[in-house]
Amino acid sequence: MTNSAHHIVFANEKGGTGKSTTAVHVAVALAYQGHKVAIIDLDPRQRTSYRYLENRDATMKRLNIEVPQPLYDVFEYDTLARLEQLVDQMSQRVDFLLYDTPGRDDKFARFVATRAHTLVTPINDSFVDFDLIGQVDPETFKVKKLSFYAELIWEARKARAKSDGTTIDWVVLRNRTQHVEAHNMKRIVSALAELSQRVGFRMIPGLSERVIYRELFPSGLTMLDKPHLGRLATSHIAARQELRELIKHLALPKSSDRLPEEELPAFDKPKLVA
Ligand SMILES: Nc1ncnc2c1ncn2[C@@H]1O[C@H](COP(=O)(O)OP(=O)(O)OP(=O)(O)O)[C@@H](O)[C@H]1O
Ligand SMILES: [Mg+2]
Repeated sequence: MTNSAHHIVFANEKGGTGKSTTAVHVAVALAYQGHKVAIIDLDPRQRTSYRYLENRDATMKRLNIEVPQPLYDVFEYDTLARLEQLVDQMSQRVDFLLYDTPGRDDKFARFVATRAHTLVTPINDSFVDFDLIGQVDPETFKVKKLSFYAELIWEARKARAKSDGTTIDWVVLRNRTQHVEAHNMKRIVSALAELSQRVGFRMIPGLSERVIYRELFPSGLTMLDKPHLGRLATSHIAARQELRELIKHLALPKSSDRLPEEELPAFDKPKLVA
């Protein structure tokens, strides 16, 4: 992979933790900041992020509007050489190249994970998700053991540091957070804090549990596309704020925490497509 783009890999071998949802929202947010962004969807069967952005294109056409749109592609081949070719092509064209990986062990996901600049692992506030990174004692909730996946990332980072002296910024992001279940949440957060020191990842806040993240998929819109949301527009200031926080905590090079609302008027009004 070339160094021309910053590579952000969304990975978690467990399914349904929010990789695609987070990847699409981060991609759109970066596009709103004026960056050139692309997503490669590495799950040719589900192709969630690919379909999300395809829906976004269709909405632009249907409503005759223009919203910031990342480039997107789905990887459907079966060799690493083909993937490298696609990655090389894409990284010449963009500032940020995002990878949405499948929720299972997958050779392409492993390949891109070892080459990430930023590796984002979304988890839900549940010990079922946590188990992927480490196992906890059933009585004390202290971390007993690292999981296979954490070991894998650990090895990847070591190899990376040896080969080019850089490191992978591994970020564990808490997705679908809720204000209920405070007790369980506290245990998870303290187990994560313990593990983050042992394994060396950063723990950051992600998106909270909101219907809007599910509802907008068919239109391909996000809560950043405020003028086009109709009845959904007003109630999602908090959602925009949490996305802004997420971007800030990712601490990406060249990125800021500017996001639309007030700051980016260029996309605040629908623009006619020629
Ligand atoms: N913050 C959220 N609030 C509400 N629903 C969410 C949130 N994040 C994800 N979801 C929903 O949870 C489900 C799984 O999310 P998503 O598809 O992003 O996970 P994934 O990790 O990409 O899954 P897979 O491993 O199958 O690729 C989807 O129905 C999605 O709409
Ligand atoms: Mg997915």
